Amino acid sequence: MAPNRTNFSNFTDELRARLSIVDVVGKRVPLTKKGDRYWGCCPFHNEKTPSFTVVEDKGFYKCFGCGEGGDIISFTMKINNMDFKAAIEELANMAGMKLPDFKPRDPNIVKHEEELFNICDAAANTFHEKLFTPDGAAALEYLRKRGFTDDMIKKYRIGYAPKNNIIANKFAGSKYLVDAGLCRRGDFGLYDFFRDRLMFPLFNANGKIVAFSGRSLDGSEPKYKNTTDTDVFHKRRTVFGLNFARDAIHRANRSIVVEGQIDAIKMQTNGFGETVAPLGTALTDEHIAILCKLNRNITFCFDGDGAGQKAAARACSIMMPFLRDISDVRFAFVSGGKDPDEILEKNGVDAMKKIIDNAVPLVDFLWELANKNFVVATPGGKLQAEKFLDAELDKIADPELKKFFKQEYDKRKFQSWQSWKKNKEVVKVKLPDIDAITKNTLIYIVNNFPELAEKYLDFLGSLGIDFDGDASGLNMDLAAAEKFIVSLKLHRYLDKLNSQKRELTNQWLETGDNSVRDEINNLDAEIEKYTEKLEVLLTI
Ligand code: UTP
Ligand code: MN
Repeated sequence: MAPNRTNFSNFTDELRARLSIVDVVGKRVPLTKKGDRYWGCCPFHNEKTPSFTVVEDKGFYKCFGCGEGGDIISFTMKINNMDFKAAIEELANMAGMKLPDFKPRDPNIVKHEEELFNICDAAANTFHEKLFTPDGAAALEYLRKRGFTDDMIKKYRIGYAPKNNIIANKFAGSKYLVDAGLCRRGDFGLYDFFRDRLMFPLFNANGKIVAFSGRSLDGSEPKYKNTTDTDVFHKRRTVFGLNFARDAIHRANRSIVVEGQIDAIKMQTNGFGETVAPLGTALTDEHIAILCKLNRNITFCFDGDGAGQKAAARACSIMMPFLRDISDVRFAFVSGGKDPDEILEKNGVDAMKKIIDNAVPLVDFLWELANKNFVVATPGGKLQAEKFLDAELDKIADPELKKFFKQEYDKRKFQSWQSWKKNKEVVKVKLPDIDAITKNTLIYIVNNFPELAEKYLDFLGSLGIDFDGDASGLNMDLAAAEKFIVSLKLHRYLDKLNSQKRELTNQWLETGDNSVRDEINNLDAEIEKYTEKLEVLLTI
């Protein structure tokens, strides 16, 4: 950064980084995506066929009819007939940023930032070298066990921070150790912030190291310790791996977001170069804004555990205001392992590809959330689910797009909330329909014991009953009601096992295949177990 740059030009860079030209122009000119560009009718001259184009990742617009062209600032000036300063003000509003003082940028600040970059870089070198000394042997061994090759260690500049104060000692003369987050000041002078940790440098958009994330090696907490915010590092705005992923995101025409940084490194190394991770567990709207500016197509790939489900729900909610008609946002969940890293190590690239390929579009994921989070089998639950969906859809900026979401969901609601499924799975074993008395009893239970409706939602939902009906005139207490549900559940499960057994027996008679015989034996054991359970239940 040259010292003669002003705060002001820094601010316009920030505006360009935060605002997508497609959003800025799209507010005034309807745009359609064709290939990797957007087209619309030029607002600066009269035309009926679009010759006005917008290129999102380059941040410019250009009209091939009249020759007008520029960036978000010139567009805002021209379309509103504003001067530069007013345009900046308007854009700052849009980006939710405060206007800076229009003073020249303090050369001391610029110099300070450069010092921080330098010291972080020197520290990264120190950690990296240390990894290959006897002190770092255990850390290196750990990396190897986790499948890190020398090339990966080099590319990501991974290192090891030893137990002593290596940074405080080695760079004793430096005035920037505390400001860079590398050291803390104690009663006896400076001491290192990172000790006995595997060190992952964090790079800014220009590939400069601005901070570190240190993983503990001995299971001590916290598992990851990250540099606290500094003048050159803002955790909320840092997307791990983005400096390496830019080109790949462009080529793949999407980004993949995983939860962990090791996951991101492994994905990038195994053919998913477009993968990034938020820093720390919480995804922020700033992370999304940065990603959307590069590419509107995002596939979130979260761990298959409860935390992953939660993170996905959060990501979905943050994503809504960023949706455009050209966005393809999907959600994938890791199964068969705990995270992408484990899948890649255990099951290989193809297994991972399958997981990504099976990602669910946002429209379906949001629908699933509404159906899972509320007891849609009851009128009250339906209302809550409706409210939830409405609130999420209200965040969609484009009214047309919002309308399409609404229409889609209305269709699904009409087909009944819980039984809607896009690709009806081929159900091999068809169970008999529920008889009228059982149905009536279940309707009574669902409407009188919401806690049971919630507890057995999956099961009740799978029965395909419309629980809106009226079923008064029954009298049951909670225990009896639960017993009714559980015994029905067991009965139906046993029915299913018995049908399966019949099918397999036929198959065995035809083929004489002994592996089928084994499967039948397993089924027998299962049938016995659940018959016993049912008997126990019915005697209490
Ligand atoms: P995970 O606990 O899933 O870790 O946290 P991981 O990435 O799988 O790590 P390994 O594979 O055990 O080494 C996911 C992410 O949450 C952040 C880190 O960015 C991590 O990659 N995190 C987690 C923290 O910032 N601090 C923590 O203490 C834990
Ligand atoms: Mn992991």
